[in-house]
This record gives sequence, C-alpha cells and structure tokens, in this order.
Amino acid sequence: GPLSLWGGRFAGGPADALAALSRSTHFDWRLARYDVAGSRAHARVLHRAGLLDDAELAGMLEALDRLETDVVSGAFGPGPDDEDVHTALERGLIERAGPQLGGKLRAGRSRNDQIATQVRMYLRQEARVLVAGVLDVVDSLVAQAAAHPTAVMPGRTHLQHAQPVLLAHHLLAHAWPLLRDVQRWVDWDARAATSPYGSGALAGSSLGLDPRLVAAELGFDGPTENSIDGTAARDVVAEFAFVVAMVGVDLSRLSEEIILWATKEFGFVTLDDAFSTGSSIMPQKKNPDVAELARGKAGRLVGDLTGLLTTLKGLPLAYNRDLQEDKEPVFDGVDTLGLLLPAVSGMVATLAFRTDRMAELAPQGFSLATDVAEWLVRQGVPFREAHEVAGACVRVCEEQGIELWDLTDADLAGISPHLTPAVREVLSVAGSVASRDGHGGTAPVRVQEQLERARARASSL
Ligand code: ARG
Repeated sequence: GPLSLWGGRFAGGPADALAALSRSTHFDWRLARYDVAGSRAHARVLHRAGLLDDAELAGMLEALDRLETDVVSGAFGPGPDDEDVHTALERGLIERAGPQLGGKLRAGRSRNDQIATQVRMYLRQEARVLVAGVLDVVDSLVAQAAAHPTAVMPGRTHLQHAQPVLLAHHLLAHAWPLLRDVQRWVDWDARAATSPYGSGALAGSSLGLDPRLVAAELGFDGPTENSIDGTAARDVVAEFAFVVAMVGVDLSRLSEEIILWATKEFGFVTLDDAFSTGSSIMPQKKNPDVAELARGKAGRLVGDLTGLLTTLKGLPLAYNRDLQEDKEPVFDGVDTLGLLLPAVSGMVATLAFRTDRMAELAPQGFSLATDVAEWLVRQGVPFREAHEVAGACVRVCEEQGIELWDLTDADLAGISPHLTPAVREVLSVAGSVASRDGHGGTAPVRVQEQLERARARASSL
C-alpha cells in the first residue's frame, strides 16, 4: 500500500476522493530541487546535534545527490500515491538510502516548515529572473526614447489633447513604474530572506538543531524569529504576487496605449510583423495581439493576487491546509509574466513610430492654449486673467474653425490689449516643449538628462 507519513495512528488508507483532492505533486514538483537542498542542510544540522554519525551523514548526502540527479534527469518523479513533493522525495530518499537511514531525516522538521522555506527559495530565485525580464522591457522603452530625442506627440489628460510632449518623455513615463516594480522586488527580497526551517510543525524543535546553519546554507540572512509565524505567514508570498500583478498592470497600461496608437484613427505606430497577428478572414488585418494579451493577462495576475489574499483572510494560526492554495496562483504569476515580458519587450523594441503623424496632431485641439496663458503671465498679467484671455482665443478659433496660430493681429488685439503679435513665438510645438524645462519636464534637454538617469537606475538594479 501507499507509504504513509502518518501510518501509525491510522487503521486504513485514505479514500480515493481524499487522495485526489489532497495531491499537489502536479504543481509543487517544481520545488523538488529546493526540497533536496533543504534536506542536505537538515542532514548537516542533525549531524551537528549528534543525531547522525559521520558515516550516516555521508550516506545521507550521497543518497540525496543520487536523488537529485534522478530528479533532474526525470528518472525519479512523483507517483500516484505521493501526496506532495515532500512525500515523494522522502520515498525517493528511502528507496536510495534504505528505511533505516532514510527514515532519520524527518526528525525535527515538518512539511509545514519545509514548504514555507521552499516557497521562499523558489520565489527569491524567480524574482531574479523576472527582474531581468522587466529590465528588458525598460531597455526597449529607453532605446526607443533615445532613438526619438526630439519627436513630439499630443500629451493627453482625460484622453483629450492637453499639451504637447516629447515622445521620449512619454515612453520614459512607462519606464519609471517598471523600475519601481524592480525596486519593489529588491526590497521584498530583504523580507523574503528569512528561513522558516526549524519551526517544525508550529512550535519549533526540541532536538537542538540550529536553524541559523540551515538558513545560511540555503542562502537566507537568518531564521524567522517565531516558529508559528514562520509556518503560518504567507505575506511574503502575497507581496510577491502583488509585485507580479503591479508589473502586469503597468504592462497593461502601456499595451492599451499601443493598441490605441496602432489604430487608423491615431496612426502613431506600426507594429512589426513579428509582433502582430493577422486575421483568418480579413486579409488586411494586422492585430496587436501581444498588447491585448498583456492587457488580458494583467486581469489574470490581479486574480492570482486576489485569490491568494482571499485564501489568507480569516485563517487562524498556525498552519492550515488552506495554505497549500498559495502555490498555484503564485506559480501562475511567475509563468504568465515569464511568457509576457519577452513578448512585450520585443513588441516595444520593434515599434515603428510615425513621428510625422504625431507632430501633425501635437498642436491640434488647442494644446498650446496654456502656452498663451503662460506667455501672458510673463508679460505681467495675473494668471486668472491670462487663463480667461487664452480661453477666449480658443472660443474665437472654434467659432471661426481655425487654429490659434491663424488668429490675425486684429483678432488678438480684439480679445485683449495684452495679446500682441509677439505671442506667436510660443505658438509652436517645439517652443512649447522647450519651455517646459523645469526638473522632470518635457524639454528636450531635461528629457535627455532623465534618460541618462533611467539608464543609471536600470543598471543599478
Ligand atoms: N503540501 C502542503 C502545502 O503545500 C504541505 C504539507 C503540509 N501538510 C500538512 N498536512 N501539514 O502547504
């Protein structure tokens, strides 16, 4: 019959329905190498505590090496009677080391502290991989910004034309949130770097095992301070899921703009063939599926976070089996983002911007009205009045169906005596963006500095 972890107390085996419900090897097997690493470290503290002699330690480590080789090659895998990755690997160890020696490893540890530790090891590793992927998206944005140092576009608020901005400024506005997401992972890692190993089931160990040694061997800064917290807390997992969801949302906002920009009505970008799809029925179609999938998968990533938080809400301390439900959402987040990031960075890197079209639209919708008002302020007119006057210019233009720069000297003088023909010096997009030269503004000289700072931030992370 199945090798049971709790055989002693039970007369019969589990019902098939329970076994099917309980089994997690189809998703937790990806933790197998972290489980083996934890077992090696555990064997060493058992040895230090005098619970394994030298020969037993050597035999245990040798069996664990063979087990790991077989896990990596696929020669050993979970069987139908294995409940989870820990159970399966204990079976694998006993098959290799024999029941006498293999049966000694479980002393002083529990699957509760094992799983809490392994999930942290796994997420710390995956965070590094995902950070590299996010930085690739940042690189693509920065490269496009660098390639378009003076191109302008309509800046929008409420999706309405607001003020002209540099395309590079807008692209970098998508890079900074992603850089903060990377920073979030760096900060998160400091909290993830404590090891629950040694917490046992919930109360700690009576066997004189030193969790600091295990923590150090497994790359942690130290052990968790409280064995109940060590086994019951999943905030570290939830915080990781938050960063994943936040990256998803940031990619989704970028993607939504690319989808709009690729429409006939905007006409701001052409997607590269390699990062767009066609239609099976409409021969002319070129669809932004990468961006749409990014937008769609962001919803899924938010769902992963929401599901996990909902699982945690109301759970009493310490370990409850509900906690097994932490893994699928966060694994899904890792896998989903892992697929998404290279596709989005490729899409962004290969976008062809139609800068002529963007330049044509940049001054439309009276987006230079603020420049008129600010020019008046520089002539000594109170902003309150300047705002009125510039607004009156827009009204006259709307009535006549013309743009601000089409107003005649007489039109201007008729609106306000302050409006001399010299106001036309600010009625250009280039003049408008160049004038916004305060720190963080869209003036080309500021954006160039900003680009260098974004590059420096990216390479510091
Ligand atoms: N597989 C479980 C999990 O993922 C760990 C096992 C703990 N099970 C238990 N009955 N204490 O959380």
